Amino acid sequence: MSAAGNRIEVMHGVNLDQLGRRDPLLYGTLTLAELEQRIDADARALGLVTRFFHTNYEGQFVEHLHSLRDEADAILVNPGSWTHYAWAIRDALEIAGLPTLEIHLSDVQSREPWRRVSVIGELCFATISGRGPDGYRDALVALRDELGRGAVA
Ligand code: DQA
Repeated sequence: MSAAGNRIEVMHGVNLDQLGRRDPLLYGTLTLAELEQRIDADARALGLVTRFFHTNYEGQFVEHLHSLRDEADAILVNPGSWTHYAWAIRDALEIAGLPTLEIHLSDVQSREPWRRVSVIGELCFATISGRGPDGYRDALVALRDELGRGAVA
């Protein structure tokens, strides 16, 4: 792989462990474990290595971001509803200083007005939303391309 590395930290925020129980019209029918299996298979096919993290505790999410230096080359993050107001997560993402893609299963732009706000968006090189689980594959392709751009020839 490139000198820029291929380790993707996939981070799921609050309530995403409840996939499979949440509204299938918005979030699909896969459980989080099933979604992670798909992400892992797609990542391998693209030459990427994934590691997964989920918590419902904001402080743990922040501390995990702090731990990523030298552990990951890029972040794929769905913070759940923290996206819309959790400034501490925004600051921790800035401290992590890694290329980051923001993803949402549902189309947050076409839902309630408060979901249209993302406090992390300005730190992310791209945002994908409303494509369900398929969006994660698109995200991995974009992350591979982004990491490739950073590679030293
Ligand atoms: C979500 C969208 C958020 O607004 C919501 O709070 C979630 C999931 C998504 O993946 O569509 O928990 O991030």
